[in-house]
Amino acid sequence: MTELPEDPWWSRAVFYQLYPRSFADGDGDGVGDLHGALARLDHLTHLGVDAVWLNPVMVSPMADHGYDVADPRDVDPLFGGIDALDRLLGAAHRAGIRVTMDLVPNHTSAAHPWFVEALASEPGSPARERYIFRDGAGSDGAGPPNNWVSVFGGPAWTRVSEADGRPGQWYLHLFDAQQPDLNWDNPEVPADLERTLRFWLDRGVSGFRIDVAHGMAKPPDLPDMAEAGSPLLALGRHDPRFNHDGVRRIHRGIRSVLDDYPDAVTVGEIWVFDNADFAKYLRPDELHLGFNFHLVRADFDAAELRSAIDNSLAAASLAGSPPTWTLSNHDVEREVTRYGGGLVGLARARAMALVLLALPGPAFIYNGSELGLPNVELPDSVLQDPVWERSGHTERGRDGCRVPIPWSGDVVPYGFSTSPDTWLPMPSDWGPLTVAAQQDDSSSMLTLYRRAIALRKGRSRLGRGICWLPSDPGVLAFRCEDGLTCVLNAGAAAVPVPVPDGKVVLASGPLTDAALPPDTAVWIST
Ligand code: GLC
Repeated sequence: MTELPEDPWWSRAVFYQLYPRSFADGDGDGVGDLHGALARLDHLTHLGVDAVWLNPVMVSPMADHGYDVADPRDVDPLFGGIDALDRLLGAAHRAGIRVTMDLVPNHTSAAHPWFVEALASEPGSPARERYIFRDGAGSDGAGPPNNWVSVFGGPAWTRVSEADGRPGQWYLHLFDAQQPDLNWDNPEVPADLERTLRFWLDRGVSGFRIDVAHGMAKPPDLPDMAEAGSPLLALGRHDPRFNHDGVRRIHRGIRSVLDDYPDAVTVGEIWVFDNADFAKYLRPDELHLGFNFHLVRADFDAAELRSAIDNSLAAASLAGSPPTWTLSNHDVEREVTRYGGGLVGLARARAMALVLLALPGPAFIYNGSELGLPNVELPDSVLQDPVWERSGHTERGRDGCRVPIPWSGDVVPYGFSTSPDTWLPMPSDWGPLTVAAQQDDSSSMLTLYRRAIALRKGRSRLGRGICWLPSDPGVLAFRCEDGLTCVLNAGAAAVPVPVPDGKVVLASGPLTDAALPPDTAVWIST
């Protein structure tokens, strides 16, 4: 294991999550791509972020918008192909921004050559052994091998037709049927992942966000879920689909490759809420960082937020790793909407941006958060997330947080594309939310993010912990190791804040007579 520097770059970095379909469209087909991202790179420079997390751009039929990978070592033409990625990497590096990519090791696309070969091969053949094929239950094999459900709804198993046309075996897919789960007990699978890791690292990528890092390893006998039909993680520690101890070996394998690239980082997507279990992923020979979803799940409520922060800190400190922070991502409702929507939701999202950026450890900003974008209510006819179909139209899915970014102008598509037919329709009232409308407005969300990031950069140290200060029940007040104090009023009434003159570093909204209004946060220097 390679010794890391005491404070590697990622231990205090601000990451920008760039969802390529939605960031900027360079070729006018209504879908964002890497040419578009390159053309808009100065947005990230102005924002002051240290690194990008790029959602999957590999070759894919896009059944789950890139999380169904058909060739892990090439870039899809929809996004501009691998040359576009190389150009983006070059320009980002010149601008001092590192680029990390998504890695999807739990499953492939059904269009991956391995799966195509598996379907054309006999039950029990080596090609089937790369995936999780089983005979069905019952004398005719007509029932699924166990009662597992897919995270996207419906059964986690699909039955295939064998070469002679008769109904045959079943394969496991924890997500969409187009995303067959790999068999990580087959040595070909980790060997191929190692090739993929080195392929991108050698091209200048600075690390990976590991998709479903708590998946991959399954219990050998694939026991039934205690309660079939339970949604993702509702069963916690007793859900046999996730968090099986076999993932340890897989993450150690990933880490041993990364150790050959000491500057690179791995961030696991770990939907595990027991602190001790979470910390296991961050042992010194496993992942560097773990995505932490406590804040994403917390309401705008002082007690909930405090407990989310405490648990995040506790889990990370058990592992001796920096805690990570995020308010949203491409899978969850945008925070403006989650916190109540409208002006109230926006004020709360502004306040939470200051909490996020005050806390020690890396922060992840989902594209559009810096503009205060809300979730969008989309009509049924345009929904694309597989969740919508698989849930039998009971769950609308995640499209509402993936609507393209508005750049300029008063009309759709606000400079996102030259085509008005964007892959998800953009609301007609987003003119005031564009980057152009916000960039010179001192009271805009964009300006708040820029200032907060710039101030954070100037802080000598972020440290690893915070100290809670006594406060009213609806208020959160904490002091960071470098002396910065953050106070958030999540209550219903204004509260007095003893702010010495000239000590307010930044506020998310106007302060009145040394009182902090509801839905407002402030940074105070000591
Ligand atoms: C992760 C991704 C999500 C994707 C799923 C399956 O949770 O964040 O977008 O659908 O994995 O790959």
